Amino acid sequence: RIMDFVRTVLVTGGSGFIGSHLVCSLVTRQPDWRIINLDNLDYCCSPRSLQSIEGRANYTFIRGDVCNSRLVNHIFKTENIDVIFHLAAKTHVESSFESPSSFQRVNVDGTRVLLGAAQQARHQPQRFIYVSTDEVYGASLDEVFDESSPVRPSNPYSATKAAAEHLVRSYWDKYKFPIIITRSNNIYGPRQYTEKVIPRFLSLLQLNKKCTIQGTLPKSRHFLFVSDAISAFLLVLEKGIVGEIYNMGTSCEIPIMQLAKELIRMVANISQKNLSLPLNVLMYRPRVDLRYPIRSEKLQQLGWRAEVSWAEGIRHTVKWYQDNPDFWSDLSEDQEQIRSRLEKAPKNQ
Ligand SMILES: NC(=O)c1ccc[n+]([C@@H]2O[C@H](COP(=O)([O-])OP(=O)(O)OC[C@H]3O[C@@H](n4cnc5c(N)ncnc54)[C@H](O)[C@@H]3O)[C@@H](O)[C@H]2O)c1
Repeated sequence: RIMDFVRTVLVTGGSGFIGSHLVCSLVTRQPDWRIINLDNLDYCCSPRSLQSIEGRANYTFIRGDVCNSRLVNHIFKTENIDVIFHLAAKTHVESSFESPSSFQRVNVDGTRVLLGAAQQARHQPQRFIYVSTDEVYGASLDEVFDESSPVRPSNPYSATKAAAEHLVRSYWDKYKFPIIITRSNNIYGPRQYTEKVIPRFLSLLQLNKKCTIQGTLPKSRHFLFVSDAISAFLLVLEKGIVGEIYNMGTSCEIPIMQLAKELIRMVANISQKNLSLPLNVLMYRPRVDLRYPIRSEKLQQLGWRAEVSWAEGIRHTVKWYQDNPDFWSDLSEDQEQIRSRLEKAPKNQ
């Protein structure tokens, strides 16, 4: 049965944390758009993330690698792709020091392959949205970054994201290929894989283990709830100006120590006076990344506001992890991985 779809959207990395929220939201809110998800189902994916939309007429899943130019070219030859959201990436900062080459391959080569295929497609795409990160600015002590701040990535993950950004921009410079880049703060919410800080703390607490914080310097992160991130992506698609970069930031800055204590209180119901919080502060950290404050006025001028408060977002997230303790079945293995990583000598100081 041929249906008339008004738009075809290719999401790469659509089975991951952010990608699955984006795909679910597009498939349910835009029944007249066709959504294609290209993902190779890396270790950080669960098929359950997209269960709610499986079998929908406007959803197609292609299991494959963004670096596979034959496959990617074939997709652009056989489908009339109007919009690309490029999210497929290796995303775990700590692992990027252990296997930088896989980060280089997926994040840089994968972006090159996708860009090349998209730009040469017979059916010209209207938008190519590259989902990048605030980490390309490097850490800050007190500077607040805007889109024109210099890019100073300080780990292989952010270095490959920055390299991919430059590739993407070069297609704008040379061909006026309609790219847009987003640089967002840390995104959190249900279904995030357990290697990232909030689910990691929650998983450790579920296993009756201590939350471990590395380093002696105070560290904090800005957290954006996933539904606010999705609304920003959709707004950038409709109203963003091609060739531009948009920060996606939040004023919600949480010191990691406070985050751990807050989660401990929420999960374990321990009063602040309790002397032995399940908290473990280690005096080592391979790199000190302090904070990533960014300005988002450009995005706000398009009409975007974060709507979910920290209190609401974290309550919702904690409840989801409590209601779905088996979603990530390899929790204990993950805990082992975390421990072994922490026990290793710092290699990158
Ligand atoms: N999570 C955050 O806080 C955050 C913040 C800013 C930007 N980002 C960016 O958003 C994107 C998605 O991040 P996430 O947190 O959802 O990460 P994630 O690790 O949950 O998802 C990444 C997805 O990419 C897929 N993938 C990996 N290699 C692939 C390959 N070779 N071919 C096809 N698919 C591949 C994985 O299977 C996974 O589904 C990434 O590009 C990341 O850099 C994330």
